[in-house]
Amino acid sequence: MVEKIIIDTDPGQDDALAILLALASPELEVLGIVAAAGNVPLPLTNVNIRKVCELAGRTDVKVFAGCSQPMSGTLVTAEYVHGATGMDGADLPDPVMPLQEQHGVDFIIETLMREPAGTVTVCTLGPLTNLGKAMTKAPEIVCRIKQVVLMGGGCFEGGNITPAAEFNIYVDPQAAAVVFGSGVPIVMMPLDVTHKTLTTRARVEAIRAIGGHLAAVLVGWLDYFERFDVAKYGSEGGPLHDPNVIAYLLKPELYSGRLCNVEIETESELTKGMTVADWWGVSGRPKNAIFMRDVDADGFYALLTERLSRLAHAEAERQPKLRLH
Ligand code: BDR
Ligand code: CA
Repeated sequence: MVEKIIIDTDPGQDDALAILLALASPELEVLGIVAAAGNVPLPLTNVNIRKVCELAGRTDVKVFAGCSQPMSGTLVTAEYVHGATGMDGADLPDPVMPLQEQHGVDFIIETLMREPAGTVTVCTLGPLTNLGKAMTKAPEIVCRIKQVVLMGGGCFEGGNITPAAEFNIYVDPQAAAVVFGSGVPIVMMPLDVTHKTLTTRARVEAIRAIGGHLAAVLVGWLDYFERFDVAKYGSEGGPLHDPNVIAYLLKPELYSGRLCNVEIETESELTKGMTVADWWGVSGRPKNAIFMRDVDADGFYALLTERLSRLAHAEAERQPKLRLH
């Protein structure tokens, strides 16, 4: 059965690969993509999403702009990781497909109220601002969501923007607290998972070997994106975070974790944005999220590479000049 999804995202090279993975996968129907402010400000993320849709030949996908600022505080961005455009490393033409007029938060609400209850999965790849706002404005959507699958947080691995916090949660802890406190079923892809899906040379070369224009764009992004984390962690390649959300929907057997209580720290200067995961069940607090902890990283890259090669072949068919070798 085809799974209906809404993607909320702040591209970001890894967001871009996640969007492409979703658009390449017939098991998923993308009802719409909402731009979040995060890696770069909203005016860039909504353009980046449309560039990615056009790269995939999917000008039919509806793209919406969400909120430009977090629920509280001022926006923190990550150009030092993703570059000034958010998708440095490859140049894509300015998009011609339109941005929808409806606000992204209203699109989320309207879609969840229109579709049968329990049939739509919300995938968040950036700060949780838009979903937190939608749940605050229309709490009746919560029980209509099948599940929220999100990239965010970390526990045993620590944080990446502070010692305690992961970027997506840190940027808008208030919104994250709304979502984690809502009672909606949550599946988390934290740093504990994404730091295991590294862009090793062999994996990047397998993507390059697809050949053609699309693969060259992907490798440009991956090479750019990993440089910051390779310098920071001394690892072989950088963590490819966001495609784990989509890969989980396609092949959940790649992942293992545990249903436990996860609370969001919203106050402390020291640990703001921390996802406090009660892995050992010591708090007695209600279990509200499946905290993923492990992944079959080779299986993840095999899936990703196979799906991206489908897109590359489709692109070459649309534009014979770009024929793959
Ligand atoms: C998350 O933050 C962004 O830099 C990435 O796109 C990912 O969503 C990782 O902390
Ligand atoms: Ca992201």
